[in-house]
Amino acid sequence: MSSTDPDRTASPVGETPPARKRAASKPSGLKSYGALFGGSDAMLSLYEQIERVAGTDATALIIGESGTGKELIARTIHDFSARRDAPFIAVNCGAIPDNLIEAELFGHERGSFTGAAQARVGYFEHAKGGTIFLDEVTEMAPVRQVKLLRALETGRFFRVGGSEEVVSDVRILAATNRDPATAVKENGLREDLMYRLAVFPLRAPPLRERENDRELLAEHFLAKLNTQHSTTKIFSKRAIETMRGYSWPGNVRELKNAVYRAYILAEETVELPHPHLNSRGKRPITQGDAMSIWVGTPLVDAQRQIILATLKHCGGDKRKTAKALGVSLKTLYNRLGSYEETAAEVEGGAPDDGTAS
Ligand SMILES: Nc1ncnc2c1ncn2[C@@H]1O[C@H](COP(=O)(O)OP(=O)(O)OP(=O)(O)O)[C@@H](O)[C@H]1O
Ligand SMILES: [Mg+2]
Repeated sequence: MSSTDPDRTASPVGETPPARKRAASKPSGLKSYGALFGGSDAMLSLYEQIERVAGTDATALIIGESGTGKELIARTIHDFSARRDAPFIAVNCGAIPDNLIEAELFGHERGSFTGAAQARVGYFEHAKGGTIFLDEVTEMAPVRQVKLLRALETGRFFRVGGSEEVVSDVRILAATNRDPATAVKENGLREDLMYRLAVFPLRAPPLRERENDRELLAEHFLAKLNTQHSTTKIFSKRAIETMRGYSWPGNVRELKNAVYRAYILAEETVELPHPHLNSRGKRPITQGDAMSIWVGTPLVDAQRQIILATLKHCGGDKRKTAKALGVSLKTLYNRLGSYEETAAEVEGGAPDDGTAS
């Protein structure tokens, strides 16, 4: 099955493999590798490992949280390998019903099960000479794992309902967002398969561990959008502070989507609202004089929302606002100074400052 992830970045093109090799052999200062962006130490070390494993046929297990780029890493390994001109097929093992996965991987003969009106080749045959990426491999039922392990060990398999062994030369890359040892203990991942897959384990680092990469990635995504739409939008200073200050639990995917959303909303200057304030569930609801703040709103954000809503309610009169909030005018000025741009929007009557319903 080809990947259907709509936000998957296209495979790297342009550079010749030797040029990439040269770049990767001098990792310091490198900001990207193929389609992977990032110049943090964690990424530089990942690029080196990709470089090494791409030159082999070893099975690799990519371990990392959701959205860290596991599929893009697999794709990069394929694109830098000798198999680059053959297919790369991504299979989401967690999304295929258990009773169908064997037929999807290895194909089936006509009449081998109800509904199998025609014989069909599976991914192992489709990907001949190339790479199969088994995403969420820990989700496969143990009985199917045995067949996969056999195919990995021998390079041979049977189509479902078939009696002739089929040989197909494929390289397997796999990914999981679970710790493999825990998946063995708790989720039914066979230990023998885990060891077979993890001949070469690779860790996709979470964004919070990647110093300075947030800004680099955000600028990369914005530049791509600018190129696609012939625009010249730029991030505001505050947007850059927000991207640095937030931990991005959804990793690169969350950052990419936030940039896309902010890009669509922007005229020239791209603002990146703090994701806590931006997510619908976290925005306060105002109704006349009353405002509801969501449970779990960080205190610093709650304070900001109360101050800005009161200022708005007082028609921008700071003296009145300070009195209503029971703080000195100086304290109010200090607070407003720290979120100056937003305050300007409120006074100017901008419709949405994160405090509107
Ligand atoms: N280092 C990177 N440089 C550029 N784009 C990236 C990078 N890492 C991830 N992306 C982009 O972020 C999105 C998520 O990446 P990907 O699908 O590879 O993550 P994943 O780890 O496989 O996620 P999941 O566990 O949810 O399947 C994709 O659009 C991908 O292109
Ligand atoms: Mg994935």
